[in-house]
Amino acid sequence: MARIAPSILSADFAWLARDIRSIEESGGDWVHFDVMDGIFVPNISIGIPVLQSVRKITRLPLDVHLMIDRPIRLADRFVKAGADWLCIHAESDTEENTLACLRRIRALGCKSALALKPGTPAQAAEPFLRDCDMILVMTVEPGFGGQEFMADMMPKLRQLRHMLDRENPGCLLEVDGGVNDRTQAICKAHGAQVLVAGSAFFRAPDRKAFVRLIREEP
Ligand code: DX5
Ligand code: ZN
Repeated sequence: MARIAPSILSADFAWLARDIRSIEESGGDWVHFDVMDGIFVPNISIGIPVLQSVRKITRLPLDVHLMIDRPIRLADRFVKAGADWLCIHAESDTEENTLACLRRIRALGCKSALALKPGTPAQAAEPFLRDCDMILVMTVEPGFGGQEFMADMMPKLRQLRHMLDRENPGCLLEVDGGVNDRTQAICKAHGAQVLVAGSAFFRAPDRKAFVRLIREEP
């Protein structure tokens, strides 16, 4: 069964507690928390103080997606602030620092994840596969919610699943960007186990039904 992680980037930040309660009440599995620094991506969102506040109001696992430059500088603080999953981008630092950061995240007792932008091939994840608990395949350019799903990322998803089956079969595969009622099935059919959905979740006329749809077998 696939899991759904609604992204609060599409929530109303003035009513964040209400919107997180809605994720709980709809049966969402995790809360996806997008951090943007205006450097790694051309947008700024939320960070450590907001994560601390969110941690206090929900027991759902917090899936923190760092779209920031050189995340190794701040990984400890995000884990301390309450991340259950901490995801860093393969493009955001050197190979050496990325590896060190993934290992540091695990050493702190948090789950580690590595994200790949659409232009980054599956092979770029190769040096990190054993140090990850999840790989995130971006199906839009990171930076904004509400963009069009890139179906041409599906072969990359399948390729990563094959690589993981050899190297680290317990590692999860997540997709993020443009996931909606029309695009979710193809993601699951290509091996996605965790589906992030921002605008489609918050705009769904029936959020419970949307969650059920995502969790169904493809
Ligand atoms: C985009 C973020 C996504 C975003 C997804 O950079 O990483 O998590 O919230 O939004 P939708 O589901 O609307 O594409
Ligand atoms: Zn995200």
